[in-house]
Amino acid sequence: GRLWLVVPAAGQGRRMGADRPKQYLPLAGRPVLACTLARLHEAFPEARLCLCLDAEDGHFDPAWVPFADWRRAPGGAERVDSVVNALEAIAPEAEEDDLVLVHDVARPCVTVDDLRRLLAAIADDPVGGLLAAPVADTMKRDDGAGRVRATESREGLWHAYTPQGFRHGLLCRALNDALARGVAVTDEASAVEAVGLSPRLVGGRRDNLKITHPEDLALAELVLSAQALAAQT
Ligand code: CTP
Ligand code: MG
Repeated sequence: GRLWLVVPAAGQGRRMGADRPKQYLPLAGRPVLACTLARLHEAFPEARLCLCLDAEDGHFDPAWVPFADWRRAPGGAERVDSVVNALEAIAPEAEEDDLVLVHDVARPCVTVDDLRRLLAAIADDPVGGLLAAPVADTMKRDDGAGRVRATESREGLWHAYTPQGFRHGLLCRALNDALARGVAVTDEASAVEAVGLSPRLVGGRRDNLKITHPEDLALAELVLSAQALAAQT
């Protein structure tokens, strides 16, 4: 089957509180969106891309897209709606068992190695899977009033990253099913879990951060330069 990349990039970046959506803020000399697409392209130059963009988007420049084969889909109210729009946009061309990797535009630090390892891990997996990392901090549950009620075991807990990769047919069914039943869908895996399947957890690097808050931009900048330095030695 063929490989599709779906990149939701229709968010407003409210928590970032900048003068424009965070995917258009500069990172290492170019917009976050351009950085993220460059990483994906380096790993999968032959893949087909579907980019979810806000219809009102006044910042996007197609010169930032390095893929030969790409199309856009309209953004939706929530991330999941944007992803569903992308799956619909590629439906006429995508085969039922084509793999679709969904990757947040706000994760520019994902490495080529992790991208390829994820693909290798799920290429023959009937369910699919996601990049993730075991939780390292001690986990506290609050009492609703700013004090600790309990310490939760972190054993078996993982941070879910992106990309998350599933077959086109399964992902469409799972997301539409979850939306119809009103299941909260914060990532693709949660929709697949809701139909009773267990996505594969593929251990990935902890520096695959999602730019969310203002301080994350400086962190991402540091991560990119550390990765570039490591690549030289
Ligand atoms: N996204 C999207 N469509 C939406 C909401 C989010 O395509 N309606 C995308 C974002 O562009 C981002 C990814 O989903 O790449 C993860 O979302 P998040 O980090 O929450 O980004 P924003 O929604 O832009 O930020 P915020 O929640 O702070 O407004
Ligand atoms: Mg959001």
